Amino acid sequence: MRRAGAFILGTGRALPSRVLTNQDLERMVETSDEWITQRTGIKERRVVAEGESNSGLATAAARKALSKAGVSPEELDLIIVATLTPDYLMPSVAILVQEALGARRAGAFDLSATCSGFLYGLSVADKFVREDPSRKILVIGSEVLSNKTNWEDRTTCVLFGDGAGAAVVTGSPDGRRGVLSAHLRADGSLWHLLTLKGCGSLYPPGDPRLPREDYFIRMQGREVFKQAVRAMESVAFEALEANGLSPSDLTLLIPHQANIRIIEFLRERLELPAEKVFVNIHKYGNTSAASIPIALDEALEEGRLKEGDLVLMVSFGGGFTWAAVLLRW
Ligand code: UT7
Repeated sequence: MRRAGAFILGTGRALPSRVLTNQDLERMVETSDEWITQRTGIKERRVVAEGESNSGLATAAARKALSKAGVSPEELDLIIVATLTPDYLMPSVAILVQEALGARRAGAFDLSATCSGFLYGLSVADKFVREDPSRKILVIGSEVLSNKTNWEDRTTCVLFGDGAGAAVVTGSPDGRRGVLSAHLRADGSLWHLLTLKGCGSLYPPGDPRLPREDYFIRMQGREVFKQAVRAMESVAFEALEANGLSPSDLTLLIPHQANIRIIEFLRERLELPAEKVFVNIHKYGNTSAASIPIALDEALEEGRLKEGDLVLMVSFGGGFTWAAVLLRW
């Protein structure tokens, strides 16, 4: 068995209070609660209201994680925020969180790996604490996708939601509990299937070469779906095999919450009973980098993990990026 690295001391989440239901969407685009529920598993999602922001959600989730961890902001060595919807391109969300928390000793940066961002971030933190186990690192996944959603496009606007999840990590206390291994994957050959083009440096705001739709998330859903199921299955088995484990050793699978049918496919491939798979997509939709840390926080609150349990977190997102982190709780 591998020596464990990053150990999670505490988690937290923050969701905007405004709820957008499938019935609300029925009044906005040509869709139905039945279609959305059957094709995605989503019943409602949260969206920011006036005055709420990515950095605000990230900070709120971080405060809860720090409080549960019993760690003060001054003790933090590093803040990593995984996001594809920062408040600004400069400064990063991580810097805004650092300032809001008063985490004066901490380095801070954003990490861009779409829906896999939190697992990529946890993997970076894992490397830092393997080097020095006394380090304390805040890893956050936070998104405001509603401002990057084309509310006239029914093929995407029903899918996404806003929110943030955070974890405070340090070195494993005993080499047994914590991250056993992290597996990061990417394939840029199909990047055009899932894009958000109109916010970078290639097309200045208002550039006539870029259609209005490209200032929002665009996705060829069916193709992305096919890639997601294949990639998530393969990286899940990769993580288990690297540790000499099989799916039946798992206490809990926490998959990225993009579509209940993708989650169900993965559950079947791993031959897991439903109670071993965490699902909250019906409440929040796809919150990209925030989905796994929000789910982890809820799973802990529900008492789904106890000391020594094995949890596998698996993600897939635009790029494409995908990842798995196997952790002994
Ligand atoms: O987090 C990043 C990773 N993202 C994902 O993993 C998402 C992967 N993709 C998906 O989850 C699914 O492909 C979607 C939920 C996006 C779409 O489901 P689908 O079963 O693949 O539907 P489809 O795109 O094949 O469309 C089927 C039909 C189409 O109508 P026609 O052409 O058969 O007449 C669509 O126009 O459903 C129609 N449709 C809708 N109907 C009602 C598409 N969106 C809607 C809608 N309401 N919101």
